[in-house]
Formats: sequence, C-alpha cells, structure tokens
Amino acid sequence: MQRREILKLISATTLLAGTNLAAKSEPSAQYPLLLNYNENAIGMSESSKRAISQSLSIGSRYPDAQQEKLTEQIATAFKLAPENVGIGSGSSQNIQSIILALAQRAKSQGLPIQLIAPNPTFNYAERYAKSVGVPVVLVGLKDDLSFDIEAMKKAAAGFNGLSVYYVCNPNNPTAMLTPSSVLNEWIKRESDKFFLVDEAYAELVNDPSFISAISLLQEKVKNLAVVRTFSKLYALAGQRVGYCLSSAENIEEFNKFLSFDNANLAGLVAASAVFADEEFKSYSLKSINLSRQIVTEALDKLGLSYADSQANFIFHKVGADTREYAKNMKARGIYVGRPFAPFFNYNRLSLGTPEQMKEFVKVLFEFRKQGLV
Ligand SMILES: Cc1ncc(COP(=O)(O)O)c(C=O)c1O
Repeated sequence: MQRREILKLISATTLLAGTNLAAKSEPSAQYPLLLNYNENAIGMSESSKRAISQSLSIGSRYPDAQQEKLTEQIATAFKLAPENVGIGSGSSQNIQSIILALAQRAKSQGLPIQLIAPNPTFNYAERYAKSVGVPVVLVGLKDDLSFDIEAMKKAAAGFNGLSVYYVCNPNNPTAMLTPSSVLNEWIKRESDKFFLVDEAYAELVNDPSFISAISLLQEKVKNLAVVRTFSKLYALAGQRVGYCLSSAENIEEFNKFLSFDNANLAGLVAASAVFADEEFKSYSLKSINLSRQIVTEALDKLGLSYADSQANFIFHKVGADTREYAKNMKARGIYVGRPFAPFFNYNRLSLGTPEQMKEFVKVLFEFRKQGLV
C-alpha cells in the first residue's frame, strides 16, 4: 500500500472509528482500547445505519420479506439456491443448530456421536456439544501451530458412529489458514464423517491459494456445512446475523433447531445493505490489512514472533506470561485477548483501526523498555 493511501486511510478510520477511544487521546480506564473480541473497530457502514433507520417504521412487523431477501442475496453470491442457506442469529446460533441436529440424527439412527476439534480453537461447537452430552475429543496443535490432521483422523478412525469434525478456517485464535488443498481433499475423502467448517474470517484472507469450502457445496458435497458471519468484515457483531450453507436436506434438518423468526429486522436489513456495499467491504479490508502491517512491523522490530495472520487478529509471542501481560496492558487502558492454553506466552491481539494500533504499538515499545515483553 502506498504511503499516501495509508495516511488517507488512517485519517478516515480515525474519524469513523466506532469505538469508545476518544480521538487523539491515549487509551485509559475511561476510554479503553478494546482489542480483545475480534470485532471490527471501524464501526457499522453508513449503508447499514441507513437501512436500520429506514426500517424503524416497519419495526412492528415480522421480518419475513427481509429474511427472504438476505437469503437470496447470499445464495446468489455463492451460486447456490436459497434452500442451501440458513440464517442464524449470529453464526454462533448456526453452530448450535448444526450440533443439535447432528446429535439428533445420530440418536435417531441409534449411533453414538463425537465431536473432534483442534485445541485451541473457537470453542462454541465444543460447548454446544457438551450441553447435550456429545463427547468431545480435543486434538492439540502441532509445534508450528497448525492442525494435527493426522491425529484428528486417528480419533475418528476407531469410532463406530458419527464423527463430526469442527474446522475453523482461518483458525481462532491463531488466525492461520489450513491449506485449501489439504482441507478440501480431506472433506471429499472422508465422506462418512461430517465437517463443520467455520469460515467466520474467510472474507479477510489474503492468501491467494485459499479456496473456500463453499466450492465443495457447489459440487454438491453433502457431508459439509460452512458457517459465515456478518460480525467481522461487515462490522455487524451487535446486530447478530450469521448464516450456514449446506445441502437443502441438511439445512432443513438444521433449521428445526433454530428458533422461528430468529433474526431481527434491524440485523437483516443492515446485513442486506452491507453485503451489497462494495466500497465499505474494500475499505474494511484495507483498514484491517493496514492495522496488521503496523503491528507486524512492530513485532518484527521487537523480535516477537507471530503466526501468519489471515484474519482480524494476530497470535503473537509476548515473551512473558500472557496473564501478566494482559494485566499490564489493562493497566494502560488496553484490553487484549484472553489466554489460550497451553500457549501461555502468546497473546491473541484483535486488530483495531490503524490509529488505535499505533497507540498499541507505542505501549508495546514502552513495555520493552520496562522489560515487560
Ligand atoms: C471462529 C468464529 N466463529 C464464530 C464466531 C461467532 O460469530 P457470530 O458473531 O456470528 O456469532 C466467532 C466470533 O468471534 C468466531 O471467532
């Protein structure tokens, strides 16, 4: 990115930042910098805000038409049919409905079921599985922080029932990508297992070799559900809109475990508007890419290693205990990610606006001077 473009973007994001960090002020207890939940710090798009305010006059009606519209937009974008799309109140709800539906499927077939997930990863599938007594097998990451796919396969191989793999790609908390060639081949080869592929951050991937697992759904692969969200690139975390893509039969099965009229009017119209807003999408992506560049340059200077980030967060070494480090950052008004066992010398840092990341970097360099990192 050109320097002039970078400067322009920084001043634009400073003006637009949907944050409680007052412009030009240092982070503080009163105005903390929230770099802990992988949200999008640039704030909602103008198109989403406009759509929400225009929908206020019909807020007393059920939003069937709006849900239908969003469903059709998503189906068209991915060259699928509306029957292949299930809207969730956040993709968290899609994950929940898939786990519950598969548990019910196994039960009705008289089969045991297990969930196999890497560790650490986004743990909602694990939590929903445990809530209905589905056993969970957690498989530790390899030394390079990639998934131990051979060990995951081994966990499924000896099991006489339905094995469900949860694959978060890019993974949270590492932000690393599992190569598409490996994942997509694995899904095709193990057609008797079910794959829940979580692509919450797929829109942020820069690696040109990435091919979404959605391409397999276009080829009519059945043992797969892909979930995506409007909470990240689209900056709508508070509006709670996500979706699942799968075969029509699977979607029908999963939807039985979604509450009726689950998505609200404001979220649906905001999502519809921003999904079509090419300008916002490119601005959002540029902002995240620039923020990542600011942080990785600082980490390089400090000799703190980090995983290859293909998302809006970075998993980086802190050269100290993560819990101590997070406490020290909090004292400076900066909230960073929680610890992810067993990586107690790594921190998951969410990317705020470029301006915010400059504030963060300033503090990180001060920490180095104080011997804290
Ligand atoms: C990997 C992953 N999947 C799903 C979600 C949930 O997103 P949503 O806001 O759509 O429920 C998150 C949220 O951080 C996430 O990191």
